[in-house]
Amino acid sequence: MATLALRLLGISGSLRSQSANTAVLNTLSNRLGHQAEMSLFALNDIPLYNADLEAQMLPASVAALKEAIAQSDGLVICSPEYNYGTSGVLKNALDWASRPGFNSPLKNKPVLIMTSSPGVLGGVRAQAQLRETLSATLSRVICSPQIVIPGVNQKIQDGSFIDEKTIKFMLAAVDDLIREIKVIP
Ligand SMILES: Cc1cc2nc3c(=O)[nH]c(=O)nc-3n(C[C@H](O)[C@H](O)[C@H](O)COP(=O)(O)O)c2cc1C
Repeated sequence: MATLALRLLGISGSLRSQSANTAVLNTLSNRLGHQAEMSLFALNDIPLYNADLEAQMLPASVAALKEAIAQSDGLVICSPEYNYGTSGVLKNALDWASRPGFNSPLKNKPVLIMTSSPGVLGGVRAQAQLRETLSATLSRVICSPQIVIPGVNQKIQDGSFIDEKTIKFMLAAVDDLIREIKVIP
């Protein structure tokens, strides 16, 4: 009997229509094997975190994000670096998703983090910050060789990420993520 593919949720830290980070995730999604499938959740409609909004009625977009995370087997996050940190858009979404504190949909969720940048460091500082932020949410950020993608603008063609070496590297990291998901489903 065929086993069901694991459901991964991709989250890009950029809202830009031509985003390199979103292109990386879309390409990865298209290259996944039979073990997993990945859909992307766009953060465009997530409002700025406000505890008053949370107390009154959770915005529909935030409820959808939290539900998508809860329904997924694991997350794949790809973030740009803004001023040596992750994007405000992504940090804000993680803040919403991290509620209630220490008991949110992010708790125990296996997560693969990646960063990309047109610069030479590939967003490595944003990646360190993301790891720290996610540790506060009690998610299980996997330990695998860090995926940082420098010079990303040269590796995008017609909206696709074309660096085969990095694609293989990412697929190996997804295998690590799948192993982590299977340790504690
Ligand atoms: C406000 C701002 C700050 C930035 N800071 C950095 C930075 O610290 N390091 C870096 O590598 N790139 C930095 N960049 C460049 C972004 O990495 C670049 O715009 C990237 O393409 C954004 O990702 P996207 O293509 O997915 O939209 C910055 C860009 C902006 C707009």
